[in-house]
Amino acid sequence: MPAVAAPDTVTCRGERFQLYLDEDTIQARILELGQQIEADYAELGPPILIGVLNGAFMFTADLMRAIPGDCEVDFYKLSSYGDAKTSSGQVTELKDVDAKLEGRHVIVVEDIVDTGLSMRYVLDQIATRNPASLRAATLLRKPDAAKVDVEVDYVGFDIDNLFVIGYGLDYGQLARNLRAIYVLEEEG
Ligand code: PRP
Repeated sequence: MPAVAAPDTVTCRGERFQLYLDEDTIQARILELGQQIEADYAELGPPILIGVLNGAFMFTADLMRAIPGDCEVDFYKLSSYGDAKTSSGQVTELKDVDAKLEGRHVIVVEDIVDTGLSMRYVLDQIATRNPASLRAATLLRKPDAAKVDVEVDYVGFDIDNLFVIGYGLDYGQLARNLRAIYVLEEEG
């Protein structure tokens, strides 16, 4: 399938957004993260990636394809934003992981660590299941928005405290299908 070029601006729910991270930049960084994970787990054994739905579905798929060796995938589903632009601060669990995680090398995969509440919640839940190791990966992280302390082992990009959409990240459930990441024009 030929790639569809990402436009410089998009409109979502009546608001204009401008290009923030283009597709090539995102994919190049994911390849680096995949190589890093491949090297880190060469001795340990295959990791299992736990994507946090919905936002992380696209990053999880691309990150998995960037890891040349064996790895598995499963999903956790949470909600903290609802349809708003800022985190509600309330994490709701909508679906648990199916895979048995005891003795496994687990990497929790998020599209974004904003306040950190969602990542903290998933890491704490999974830690109770006695994994052999537990790490965290995120495509985006907003250091200035952090409300809880959470160590993230694999970070794609640290970004300013901006409202971003695309590549899995939504605005009222729309825009997840954009191939690049966009910032609200008034903020960017
Ligand atoms: C988003 C994102 C993370 C979380 C990050 O999910 O996918 O899971 O918020 O924010 P936090 O660090 O403040 O917790 P959202 O609740 O919007 O659900 P979604 O993944 O279905 O878009």
